[in-house]
Amino acid sequence: MTVSAESTASGAAASAGTAASNVTPLHPERARSATDAALPDPSEPWWKSTTIYQIYPRSFADSNGDGIGDIPGIIGKLDYLQTLGIGAIWLSPIFASPMDDNGYDISDYQAVAPEFGTIEDFDRLVSEAKARGIGIILDLVVNHTSDEHRWFTEARKSRDNPYRDYYIWRDPAPDGGLPNAIPSVFGGPAWRFDDATGQYYFHQFSRRQPDLNWANPRLRAEIYAMMNWWLERGIAGFRMDVIDLIGKEVDKGITAEGPHLHDYLKEMHRETFGGRDVLTVGEAWSATPGSALLYSGRDREELSMVFQFEHVTQGWDEDHGKWKPKPLDLVALKGVLGKWQLALAEDGWNSLFWGNHDLPRAVSRYGDAADYHVASAKMLATVLHLLKGTPYVYQGEEIGMTNAGFESIEEYRDIETLNMHRLHLEAGRSPEDFIAGANQNSRDNARTPMQWSEAPNGGFTEGVPWIAVNANHRQINARTAVADEQSIFHHYRTLIGLRKRHGVIVDGVFRSYLDQHPDVFVYTRTLGDERLVVVASFADHQVSLTLPDELRLSGACLISNYQPVSSLGETVSLRPYEAFAILKG
Ligand code: GLC
Ligand code: CA
Repeated sequence: MTVSAESTASGAAASAGTAASNVTPLHPERARSATDAALPDPSEPWWKSTTIYQIYPRSFADSNGDGIGDIPGIIGKLDYLQTLGIGAIWLSPIFASPMDDNGYDISDYQAVAPEFGTIEDFDRLVSEAKARGIGIILDLVVNHTSDEHRWFTEARKSRDNPYRDYYIWRDPAPDGGLPNAIPSVFGGPAWRFDDATGQYYFHQFSRRQPDLNWANPRLRAEIYAMMNWWLERGIAGFRMDVIDLIGKEVDKGITAEGPHLHDYLKEMHRETFGGRDVLTVGEAWSATPGSALLYSGRDREELSMVFQFEHVTQGWDEDHGKWKPKPLDLVALKGVLGKWQLALAEDGWNSLFWGNHDLPRAVSRYGDAADYHVASAKMLATVLHLLKGTPYVYQGEEIGMTNAGFESIEEYRDIETLNMHRLHLEAGRSPEDFIAGANQNSRDNARTPMQWSEAPNGGFTEGVPWIAVNANHRQINARTAVADEQSIFHHYRTLIGLRKRHGVIVDGVFRSYLDQHPDVFVYTRTLGDERLVVVASFADHQVSLTLPDELRLSGACLISNYQPVSSLGETVSLRPYEAFAILKG
């Protein structure tokens, strides 16, 4: 792709019409106006103009009929992912684990779980993906381990075991009770009494996920050595599970964004991935626009970006959190998305996502899976992928997979859902009321198997799937989607391709319009002389809009979900869930 500086510096080459995609300009700004004004700045990191695809291995593709997705299954689908156009895969954990939390409870960081395959399978995945221009990003789960990790089985043996201080132990309170009132995310207290040594250990998730003690430098060194071992195998980066929690100070009641968090991240950067061309993204539910600049600021030497969740949590119920349905409030949603666009406009970097393995399906949550399945799924993709940041597509989102719709608790598998079901019922809630909430926000909504075809079990497995396949796989599946040029899949493919070719999508300045409008999301992205206008309706009915003067323009329609629209007048009439983008050059 790159040629020598001498040839790119030559004005003759540019005026002779050298294709800009073949050169790395010395001065991107000048070269862009001299050649193709649209291309992304090649001096920026690769992960700014690419799209990441998340795989939840258990539910992606089962190669051996045991009902559980595996690494050979993923390898068999790489051509599909190459067609989609993604640049990297974030792989949810594939490491040895008792699977109390589906692999987010790791018992050996340097071993592959036997149900997912072998280390040879993993190495083959890395090289086969690389051959298709796709990197592999591993899930780094280092806030906690499994209680079956050797560090923990050692630590709990005695108070003076060399591994004792890898975890967080406290004496009972004077009355014999819990050391303090910190709750676990999965319900109940975050402390568990361990009989053998008469102390409590701290666990922010299940009691089988004891928290690591990051204050211990020996523990940190072991983690860095493990990270380097994976980096040496040629991975493209790390997604870091609940990384905002590692700096906790439990005695002060501080769990998220503790005082030493950024010191640890800087140390990790220095000791592991610093200087390597990788993507790092931290999961940070507590991130604010201010702290996101600390994690992802250009000169901070911490992470490439974080996942923040404000657009998700703004839609939760004040009392029951995510366990009670709440209608979509577009004004609030736009407010949060726009706030983050502006906050990280100059420095830092956003990640863009509607869903992941912990969240409901995008089209079920933000669109209309029943009446406008295709139009609303395409609209959501359009709105998200044309924002500034790195987009993430969660497996199945690209074909418009929907929530599970499980009717009884027996169908659910997720530890959080099962725990919360018990706790809410104990607190007097009716089972029906809880299921209504779970139908909207249980993590299992995203964990039903990938729908590959109309075959039994959606082509996911020849055996019995570990969790039920959605019955709608007969209509919604990858085989049908790839064959249909008008499908949601091809809409995603187009958007992913646009980001690679248009600098305005990567770097353009964001500005929103009609912020108080309850049904539409309108924004522009501006870079140099180029202006991209994105118009999207979240309504299941026709909407008429009056546009401000500056948006009355015409240009090239880059994408649309009805007919192409290439000029805007004073008023615009939008069909249900209509969305389009116009580029004025
Ligand atoms: C993260 C993961 C989630 C997991 C939790 C504990 O939030 O995304 O799936 O249960 O951390 O590891
Ligand atoms: Ca399998």
